Amino acid sequence: MPDTSPSLATTASKAATRLKSRGLREVAALAWQRASDWVSSEDSLVFFVRDATPTDQAIPGLTFREATPQDAFRYARDIGTDSPSTFTGRLSPTTRCFVIDDGALLLHASWVTTAGAWTRELRAYVVPPGGEAYIYESFTRGEARGRGIYPFALHGVLAWGTANAIRRVWVAVEENNVPSHRAITKAGFVEAFRLPFARRFGRVEIGDATGPRASDAVRFLSRTPPR
Ligand SMILES: CC(C)(COP(=O)(O)OP(=O)(O)OC[C@H]1O[C@@H](n2cnc3c(N)ncnc32)[C@H](O)[C@@H]1OP(=O)(O)O)[C@@H](O)C(=O)NCCC(=O)NCCS
Repeated sequence: MPDTSPSLATTASKAATRLKSRGLREVAALAWQRASDWVSSEDSLVFFVRDATPTDQAIPGLTFREATPQDAFRYARDIGTDSPSTFTGRLSPTTRCFVIDDGALLLHASWVTTAGAWTRELRAYVVPPGGEAYIYESFTRGEARGRGIYPFALHGVLAWGTANAIRRVWVAVEENNVPSHRAITKAGFVEAFRLPFARRFGRVEIGDATGPRASDAVRFLSRTPPR
């Protein structure tokens, strides 16, 4: 099953977990940001791409691995974007979660899909081409940032892709997310295209893609859940 547009119950359960894991201040700031974005905002989503290749990146003391249902409690506690049950419900053969584990805490999580992922900013599904994968919802715990953990995770996904006949890996990030841009380009990804979008009272309008692979953009978006 691909990630689907979340129901009200799922959204409420995720919000409660986020509140417990990240605290009132971060959750309130995020809620305020999302509310003002819903009223009126303009941004661009930048899509980066890299061919999957074997890599041998390592950070001493840290393990990159695919998460399993056994990680549900730790994911809710350490990453905090899902409750244990919504986390487990999202895992499937086409939608996986990869984590960086220091033995005590999950320091980072990134989701990877070969089917499609609901993308709140665009109010659409981002669907990677057949035989390719899309990375989204990446998060490094605040105290672990700046140690190269996200690039390490991206290299891990590239190596996983190579071992699983995935030709190419994509990742998208909002234009103004500088830490993310730096991490993604450090991992050797290059910009493919930019998709501008505007929101007015919840209604999203997507503009024309620009960039070296702008012609690829049209086949990435779907209004209906991919099968
Ligand atoms: C984006 C994010 C995943 C990067 O993770 P990371 O493991 O810190 O990645 P890196 O260690 O490579 O750091 C990337 C950049 O973050 C910035 N950075 C460094 N230390 C930092 C700190 N303590 N706090 C915040 N940002 C820091 C730097 O610009 C760094 O780039 P540089 O090393 O070339 O100067 C992380 O900042 C995060 O979880 N942000 C919130 C969620 C998000 O934006 N996710 C991505 C959208 S899908």
